[in-house]
Amino acid sequence: LSDMLIDSFGRFHSYLRISLTERCNLRCQYCMPAEGVELTPKPQLLSSNEIIRLADLFVAAGVEKIRLTGGEPTIRKDIEDICLQLSNLKGLKTLAMTTNGITLARKLPKLKECGLTSINISLDTLIPAKFEFMTRRKGHEKVMEAINAAIDLGYDPVKVNCVVMRGFNDDEIVDFVELTRDKPVNVRFIEFMPFDGNVWNVKKLVSYYEMRDKVAQYAGLIRLQDHPTDTAKNYGIDGHRGTVSFITSMTEHFCAGCNRLRLLADGNFKVCLFGPSEVSLRDPLRSGANDDALREIIGAAVKRKKAAHAGMFDIAKTANRPMIHIGG
Ligand code: GTP
Ligand code: 5AD
Ligand code: SF4
Repeated sequence: LSDMLIDSFGRFHSYLRISLTERCNLRCQYCMPAEGVELTPKPQLLSSNEIIRLADLFVAAGVEKIRLTGGEPTIRKDIEDICLQLSNLKGLKTLAMTTNGITLARKLPKLKECGLTSINISLDTLIPAKFEFMTRRKGHEKVMEAINAAIDLGYDPVKVNCVVMRGFNDDEIVDFVELTRDKPVNVRFIEFMPFDGNVWNVKKLVSYYEMRDKVAQYAGLIRLQDHPTDTAKNYGIDGHRGTVSFITSMTEHFCAGCNRLRLLADGNFKVCLFGPSEVSLRDPLRSGANDDALREIIGAAVKRKKAAHAGMFDIAKTANRPMIHIGG
């Protein structure tokens, strides 16, 4: 294992999130402004060969899990080829994707053949009209189909990401828990986080404690052991096939166990979800840098990683990209 992935706090980063595109077929309010975001011109986005070259470096250094994000990763035309090449990297154990599920029911069988091992599907409401309001597009039933298709293909658990916002979907928490009764799904209630252009405000934040109380009033919660690098606090539910979790970035951050790094679609390398600190890997790559030179740039950026993000009230004020560029 190489020193490149160890930061100055001794955290080993074995999880790389790769954003494959800045585009999306939805327009979720918590992710981007209504007018959309400025898109990086295509020639400045990483090609599939460049992505594989960089991923290979990371996996050789000890990355064991890659998650494909976006924008919406399934929009990328070469998604199958990218999955196939990544899944062939020696040492990679998990190839995951976080997707909005819109086109997934159709694409998933092939993606599974290409080596996709885990799937997280975003779904914030069980009510079609609310879905249209939040995503500014139609497609609720497609996402439900995607969840069922993933279950049928044997993904276990299928993770369902639900960003909880006061006045929007906090009245649906129990209905989401109900999804876990007979299905092998892990419903993850996520605290709403601020990003550029997403109209975050503290009144819309529903805290972990409040969400957990709502669930506990309805069902018997059993605290499960988490992995130290997990983003989620996990719970079993008496009598249910599935589980629920809470992702508590705002009220109880999990930075101490962080093992995540990010490669963005434009080739920038981001060591923390929050804050503006990024370094381009595309530019040195395109000017002919060899592997050692790239490793040096990556290692130096990892060493600059901070112990934790700025905290609940400061991250809303710290410059960052819009979520759609980062991919979570
Ligand atoms: P698993 O690998 O299945 O545990 O998924 P994950 O939680 O790592 O990734 P996913 O894309 O499903 O993200 C779920 C939520 O966790 C999203 O709201 C992400 O923005 C958030 N998240 C993911 N990584 C981090 C992180 O490093 N820090 C913080 N604060 N939030 C994160
Ligand atoms: N706060 C919390 N989670 C968010 N996501 C997108 N925007 C936000 C936000 N503002 C989630 C998506 C997706 C994951 C990558 O990040 O729902 O599941
Ligand atoms: Fe890691 Fe930054 Fe997320 Fe904290 S906020 S868990 S340091 S990526």
